[in-house]
Amino acid sequence: MDKGVFDALFKSVRISQGREEFFWLVNEVEKIDPHIIIEIGVQYGGSLKFWEQLVKPGDLIIGLDNRLDLSKVMSWDYGRSDRNVVIVVGNSMASETVEKVRGTLGEREADFLFIDGGHSFKAVSSDFENYSKFVREGGLVAFHDLYLGAGYPKKFFDTLKGKKRECHADYYGVGVWWK
Ligand SMILES: C[S@@+](CC[C@H](N)C(=O)[O-])C[C@H]1O[C@@H](n2cnc3c(N)ncnc32)[C@H](O)[C@@H]1O
Repeated sequence: MDKGVFDALFKSVRISQGREEFFWLVNEVEKIDPHIIIEIGVQYGGSLKFWEQLVKPGDLIIGLDNRLDLSKVMSWDYGRSDRNVVIVVGNSMASETVEKVRGTLGEREADFLFIDGGHSFKAVSSDFENYSKFVREGGLVAFHDLYLGAGYPKKFFDTLKGKKRECHADYYGVGVWWK
Protein backbone atom coordinates (compact mmCIF):
# COMPACT_ATOMS: atom_id res chain seq x y z
CA MET A 1 0.00 0.00 0.00
CA ASP A 2 1.23 3.44 -0.90
CA LYS A 3 2.53 5.25 2.22
CA GLY A 4 0.35 8.32 1.57
CA VAL A 5 -2.78 6.17 1.28
CA PHE A 6 -1.77 4.26 4.41
CA ASP A 7 -1.21 7.45 6.43
CA ALA A 8 -4.53 8.97 5.38
CA LEU A 9 -6.39 5.77 6.28
CA PHE A 10 -4.53 5.48 9.59
CA LYS A 11 -5.67 8.97 10.52
CA SER A 12 -9.27 8.35 9.46
CA VAL A 13 -10.05 5.53 11.91
CA ARG A 14 -9.66 4.66 15.58
CA ILE A 15 -6.92 2.05 15.64
CA SER A 16 -4.80 0.25 18.24
CA GLN A 17 -1.67 -0.36 16.17
CA GLY A 18 1.82 1.13 15.96
CA ARG A 19 2.11 2.99 12.66
CA GLU A 20 5.41 1.54 11.46
CA GLU A 21 4.71 -2.04 12.48
CA PHE A 22 1.25 -1.92 10.97
CA PHE A 23 2.56 -0.51 7.68
CA TRP A 24 4.96 -3.47 7.57
CA LEU A 25 2.10 -5.90 8.28
CA VAL A 26 -0.27 -4.38 5.71
CA ASN A 27 2.42 -4.79 3.06
CA GLU A 28 3.05 -8.44 4.02
CA VAL A 29 -0.69 -9.12 3.72
CA GLU A 30 -0.94 -7.29 0.40
CA LYS A 31 1.79 -9.54 -1.07
CA ILE A 32 -0.46 -12.62 -0.81
CA ASP A 33 -3.30 -10.89 -2.74
CA PRO A 34 -6.00 -11.59 -0.14
CA HIS A 35 -9.69 -12.08 -0.92
CA ILE A 36 -10.91 -13.48 2.40
CA ILE A 37 -9.73 -12.19 5.78
CA ILE A 38 -10.66 -13.04 9.38
CA GLU A 39 -9.84 -10.67 12.22
CA ILE A 40 -10.17 -11.59 15.90
CA GLY A 41 -10.32 -8.38 17.97
CA VAL A 42 -12.09 -5.57 16.10
CA GLN A 43 -12.49 -3.02 18.93
CA TYR A 44 -13.25 0.22 16.98
CA GLY A 45 -12.61 -1.31 13.58
CA GLY A 46 -9.30 0.42 12.83
CA SER A 47 -7.32 -2.54 11.54
CA LEU A 48 -10.46 -4.01 9.95
CA LYS A 49 -10.69 -0.92 7.71
CA PHE A 50 -7.28 -1.75 6.25
CA TRP A 51 -8.28 -5.35 5.50
CA GLU A 52 -11.40 -3.98 3.83
CA GLN A 53 -9.21 -1.83 1.60
CA LEU A 54 -6.84 -4.71 0.72
CA VAL A 55 -9.57 -6.96 -0.69
CA LYS A 56 -11.73 -6.37 -3.77
CA PRO A 57 -15.42 -5.44 -4.04
CA GLY A 58 -17.52 -8.51 -3.18
CA ASP A 59 -14.71 -10.16 -1.19
CA LEU A 60 -15.29 -11.32 2.39
CA ILE A 61 -14.03 -9.81 5.65
CA ILE A 62 -15.05 -11.42 8.96
CA GLY A 63 -14.51 -9.32 12.10
CA LEU A 64 -14.96 -11.08 15.43
CA ASP A 65 -15.16 -9.43 18.84
CA ASN A 66 -16.80 -10.06 22.21
CA ARG A 67 -18.04 -6.45 22.54
CA LEU A 68 -21.81 -6.48 22.51
CA ASP A 69 -21.87 -2.81 21.46
CA LEU A 70 -19.50 -3.36 18.54
CA SER A 71 -21.77 -2.02 15.80
CA LYS A 72 -22.28 1.20 17.81
CA VAL A 73 -18.58 1.92 18.48
CA MET A 74 -17.14 1.17 15.03
CA SER A 75 -15.14 4.13 13.71
CA TRP A 76 -16.39 3.65 10.11
CA ASP A 77 -19.62 2.55 8.48
CA TYR A 78 -19.00 -1.03 7.39
CA GLY A 79 -22.63 -1.34 6.29
CA ARG A 80 -21.88 0.94 3.33
CA SER A 81 -18.88 -1.08 2.16
CA ASP A 82 -18.94 -2.77 -1.25
CA ARG A 83 -16.98 -5.61 0.37
CA ASN A 84 -18.93 -8.26 2.28
CA VAL A 85 -18.09 -7.25 5.87
CA VAL A 86 -19.54 -9.73 8.39
CA ILE A 87 -19.33 -8.89 12.08
CA VAL A 88 -19.48 -11.82 14.50
CA VAL A 89 -20.05 -10.94 18.16
CA GLY A 90 -18.95 -13.58 20.66
CA ASN A 91 -16.11 -15.05 22.67
CA SER A 92 -13.58 -16.32 20.14
CA MET A 93 -12.84 -19.28 22.41
CA ALA A 94 -16.45 -20.51 22.43
CA SER A 95 -17.31 -23.35 20.06
CA GLU A 96 -20.51 -21.60 18.90
CA THR A 97 -18.40 -18.60 17.76
CA VAL A 98 -16.06 -20.88 15.82
CA GLU A 99 -19.13 -22.44 14.19
CA LYS A 100 -20.49 -19.00 13.23
CA VAL A 101 -17.22 -18.26 11.43
CA ARG A 102 -17.24 -21.69 9.77
CA GLY A 103 -20.82 -21.09 8.64
CA THR A 104 -19.93 -17.68 7.17
CA LEU A 105 -17.00 -19.14 5.25
CA GLY A 106 -18.86 -22.20 3.96
CA GLU A 107 -16.48 -24.07 1.65
CA ARG A 108 -14.17 -21.07 1.28
CA GLU A 109 -10.76 -20.70 2.94
CA ALA A 110 -9.29 -17.50 4.32
CA ASP A 111 -6.06 -15.99 2.98
CA PHE A 112 -5.24 -14.14 6.17
CA LEU A 113 -6.07 -14.42 9.88
CA PHE A 114 -5.26 -11.54 12.25
CA ILE A 115 -5.15 -12.59 15.92
CA ASP A 116 -5.63 -9.47 18.07
CA GLY A 117 -8.28 -10.45 20.63
CA GLY A 118 -7.43 -11.80 24.09
CA HIS A 119 -3.69 -11.68 24.77
CA SER A 120 -3.24 -14.43 27.37
CA PHE A 121 -1.33 -17.53 26.29
CA LYS A 122 -4.60 -19.47 26.53
CA ALA A 123 -6.50 -17.00 24.34
CA VAL A 124 -3.79 -16.73 21.69
CA SER A 125 -3.18 -20.48 21.49
CA SER A 126 -6.92 -21.18 21.41
CA ASP A 127 -7.49 -18.60 18.65
CA PHE A 128 -4.67 -20.13 16.62
CA GLU A 129 -5.99 -23.65 17.17
CA ASN A 130 -9.60 -22.75 16.34
CA TYR A 131 -9.17 -20.39 13.38
CA SER A 132 -5.87 -21.15 11.61
CA LYS A 133 -7.58 -24.26 10.24
CA PHE A 134 -9.71 -21.90 8.11
CA VAL A 135 -6.59 -20.43 6.44
CA ARG A 136 -5.40 -21.85 3.12
CA GLU A 137 -1.97 -23.41 2.64
CA GLY A 138 0.39 -20.54 1.86
CA GLY A 139 -1.87 -18.07 3.68
CA LEU A 140 -0.80 -15.89 6.58
CA VAL A 141 -1.54 -15.74 10.30
CA ALA A 142 -0.47 -12.58 12.18
CA PHE A 143 -0.21 -12.03 15.93
CA HIS A 144 -0.41 -8.56 17.39
CA ASP A 145 1.01 -7.25 20.67
CA LEU A 146 3.83 -9.79 20.79
CA TYR A 147 5.60 -7.78 23.47
CA LEU A 148 2.68 -6.32 25.36
CA GLY A 149 2.19 -7.10 29.06
CA ALA A 150 3.79 -10.37 30.00
CA GLY A 151 4.56 -11.03 26.33
CA TYR A 152 2.24 -13.98 25.97
CA PRO A 153 1.59 -13.61 22.24
CA LYS A 154 5.37 -13.76 21.77
CA LYS A 155 5.58 -16.87 23.96
CA PHE A 156 3.04 -18.58 21.74
CA PHE A 157 4.61 -17.23 18.53
CA ASP A 158 7.93 -18.76 19.57
CA THR A 159 6.37 -22.23 19.67
CA LEU A 160 5.45 -22.08 15.97
CA LYS A 161 7.69 -23.91 13.50
CA GLY A 162 8.24 -22.94 9.87
CA LYS A 163 8.49 -19.63 8.04
CA LYS A 164 7.81 -16.60 10.20
CA ARG A 165 8.95 -13.02 10.62
CA GLU A 166 8.36 -10.27 13.11
CA CYS A 167 8.52 -6.50 13.25
CA HIS A 168 9.13 -4.67 16.52
CA ALA A 169 9.42 -1.04 15.46
CA ASP A 170 6.83 0.40 17.86
CA TYR A 171 6.30 -0.96 21.31
CA TYR A 172 3.65 -3.58 20.50
CA GLY A 173 5.43 -5.99 18.15
CA VAL A 174 3.74 -7.98 15.38
CA GLY A 175 4.61 -11.42 14.03
CA VAL A 176 3.53 -13.27 10.88
CA TRP A 177 3.58 -17.00 10.21
CA TRP A 178 3.09 -18.60 6.80
CA LYS A 179 0.90 -21.70 6.87
C1 LIG B 1 -6.47 -4.72 21.02
S1 LIG B 1 -8.15 -4.67 20.68
C2 LIG B 1 -8.20 -4.88 18.91
C3 LIG B 1 -7.65 -3.70 18.16
C4 LIG B 1 -7.97 -3.68 16.69
N1 LIG B 1 -7.51 -4.88 16.02
C5 LIG B 1 -7.30 -2.48 16.05
O1 LIG B 1 -6.15 -2.58 15.67
O2 LIG B 1 -7.91 -1.42 15.96
C6 LIG B 1 -8.71 -6.22 21.27
C7 LIG B 1 -10.20 -6.50 21.10
O3 LIG B 1 -10.38 -7.90 21.32
C8 LIG B 1 -11.57 -8.12 22.04
N2 LIG B 1 -11.44 -9.41 22.73
C9 LIG B 1 -10.69 -9.71 23.81
N3 LIG B 1 -10.84 -11.01 24.15
C10 LIG B 1 -11.70 -11.55 23.26
C11 LIG B 1 -12.29 -12.85 23.09
N4 LIG B 1 -11.97 -13.86 23.89
N5 LIG B 1 -13.14 -13.03 22.06
C12 LIG B 1 -13.46 -12.02 21.22
N6 LIG B 1 -12.94 -10.77 21.34
C13 LIG B 1 -12.07 -10.54 22.34
C14 LIG B 1 -11.68 -6.90 22.95
O4 LIG B 1 -13.03 -6.66 23.31
C15 LIG B 1 -11.11 -5.78 22.08
O5 LIG B 1 -12.15 -5.12 21.39
